[in-house]
Amino acid sequence: MAKLWAGLTNGEINKTAEVFNSSIKVDSRMAIEDIKGSIAHADMLSHTGIISKEEGETIKNALFSIMENIENGSLKIDMSAEDIHTFIEQTLTDMIGDTGKKLHTARSRNDQVALDLRLTLKKECESEIELIKNLLKVIVKKAETYKTTVLPGYTHLQRAQPITFAHQLLAYAMMFLRDKERLLDAYKRIDVSPIGACALAGTTYNTDRFFEAEKLGFSAVAQNSIDAVSDRDFAVELMSANALIMVHLSRFSEEIILWSTKEFDFIKLSNDYSTGSSIMPQKKNPDMAELVRGKTGRVYGDLFSLLTTLKGLPLAYNKDLQEDKESVFDSVDTVKMCLEIFAGMIDSMTAKEKNMKAAAQKGFINATDLADYLVIKGIPFRDAYKLSAKAVNVATAEGYDLCTLPLSKYKEISPLIEEDVYEAISIDTAVKKRISFGGTSVESVEKQIEFVTKN
Ligand code: ARG
Repeated sequence: MAKLWAGLTNGEINKTAEVFNSSIKVDSRMAIEDIKGSIAHADMLSHTGIISKEEGETIKNALFSIMENIENGSLKIDMSAEDIHTFIEQTLTDMIGDTGKKLHTARSRNDQVALDLRLTLKKECESEIELIKNLLKVIVKKAETYKTTVLPGYTHLQRAQPITFAHQLLAYAMMFLRDKERLLDAYKRIDVSPIGACALAGTTYNTDRFFEAEKLGFSAVAQNSIDAVSDRDFAVELMSANALIMVHLSRFSEEIILWSTKEFDFIKLSNDYSTGSSIMPQKKNPDMAELVRGKTGRVYGDLFSLLTTLKGLPLAYNKDLQEDKESVFDSVDTVKMCLEIFAGMIDSMTAKEKNMKAAAQKGFINATDLADYLVIKGIPFRDAYKLSAKAVNVATAEGYDLCTLPLSKYKEISPLIEEDVYEAISIDTAVKKRISFGGTSVESVEKQIEFVTKN
């Protein structure tokens, strides 16, 4: 396909250089956005009288039919074209001749590509937000199911204090809520129109950038034309929000993987989201969670790739910027896929409540509650802590846990301990009593569910 820039030269370059220079394999994904941008541009050119109304209509009608033909598959994108902008403009000119050549008045591929990328990322950011909302719904549903299911909460991966499964699940919901906010915030900066900046300096034509931005549904117009064609912060912001989404998905994945081991045995993943081993028939592997964890590195890499491309780049447009799309699209595609898979995996997972409860009964995770009991009996917390540790030692040495240690043994530790200790340190009481805001009690978890649902 002929080069749009064949002017000073005939556009012929070394064949390998031509392949190296081409971006169509990646930017053909923005075909529809490119056409929408061109339709708005033709509208603006005729609205301002830069081209005639008839010319505007001819260009627009042809662009609409190109769009339709790409969508219905009757027009195949020519992968030998330099980029999608070249392909669309060439196709237009082939259709309507010289009038098509007027479309690129008061425009450059520099503002055009920035526009296409922003339009594409607005759409992608919106669909990521929808996927996060769906994941939040799934987590809330699970939290409702397991509101009173007790398991050990961990610190240092050592059993620490009893919590409810709902409480643990909602901790992830809070992370995804923040992710949603970050995406909404990133969206604001994507939603700024660069079109009309032209190559870098603006244009001598009497254009109307605000008219064009409004046609395209942008909330704002880029203030400085040099910045408009050089800025890729918006893509970095989206990728950085994506990197954090992956941090959260990956931490959650790690727990899913641990919980589904025979050692923990806290959950059962549905067959839809587990795989087997080709050699060990007994195995059911949490591949989806592992892959999500694994893909995290790739999404970080995408972010670092663009950050590094931008570092030290002089103003305004440089061809380096062509490298932005591969990483930002990879980041978006990976995150979307992970969010979808993850929601399905969580939705179909079941908790092994008996095993969770049994684990909570071992490991002295009510030792803090014993100390708190002694505090109520009038012992200062630091001393109560030591007495509780002593009870743990005695129980360990004699093969009891704190719930089964006989009262006579307790009396040796402190005469203040009475029969009511067993009720006070039962695992269920330990959960019920944690009524502090954000804590693990049912009432507190219900408030958290309400918060996630409202936001
Ligand atoms: N394919 C190019 C990109 O993705 C389009 C812009 C080309 N502009 C130019 N001045 N060569 O960045």
